[in-house]
Amino acid sequence: MQKESIIIAITGASAQILGERAIDLLLKSNYKIDVILSKGAYKVWQSEYGLKIPIDTIKQEIFWRERLKTSTGDISCHKWDDHSVAIASGSHPTKAMIIVPCSMGTIGKIASGCSINLIERCADVHLKEGRPLIISPRESPFNLIHLKNMKLLCQAGATIVPCIPSWYSKPKNLDEMIDFMVVRLFDSLYLDLKKINRWKGSN
Ligand SMILES: Cc1cc2nc3c(=O)[nH]c(=O)nc-3n(C[C@H](O)[C@H](O)[C@H](O)COP(=O)(O)O)c2cc1C
Repeated sequence: MQKESIIIAITGASAQILGERAIDLLLKSNYKIDVILSKGAYKVWQSEYGLKIPIDTIKQEIFWRERLKTSTGDISCHKWDDHSVAIASGSHPTKAMIIVPCSMGTIGKIASGCSINLIERCADVHLKEGRPLIISPRESPFNLIHLKNMKLLCQAGATIVPCIPSWYSKPKNLDEMIDFMVVRLFDSLYLDLKKINRWKGSN
């Protein structure tokens, strides 16, 4: 297992399943991850799945292990307002941070340099330290402010990777479509992932 962790942040945008699949894929590929859910993510999770994720960090680690049926990798969960954890500091090394799905609220706060919660702080750290920050926005349609904020984040070093389904890969079901989109999030990190459903050409 790699020593440096990958931060997975889930915010209060629709498509919580994308964040869940990102966690699943990394754990099953034996990666070390730090997980942060925004306050809004707990609400959207409940609305999309009809169940509550424990806010207590130890209980949440058990929740993910049981839900995803995996004992591999390493997971540490953090509360959205806990700025005392190691990942809040630039002196703590991390491999990358992925925010999926990312709300327009979180994008706006990161773009303005206004780090109120732990997700925004960690994103700020990744930009200032020149480490990979991958943001997967979820909103439709985008207004000019959303687009300007994403442009600014891109200029500041973030990679904007919207989860857009592919039709050329001929997904047989929703799971395959989701996996394809989530794997694309990791592409710029050159990870050794266990489950990869890639386009191999038409021949
Ligand atoms: C069911 C539900 C779905 C939502 N979907 C989105 C969305 O897709 N994109 C978005 O930007 N905000 C969405 N929101 C609004 C955000 O949750 C809200 O702006 C929140 O304050 C964002 O804060 P956060 O980024 O810290 O989670 C949704 C809210 C709810 C309750």
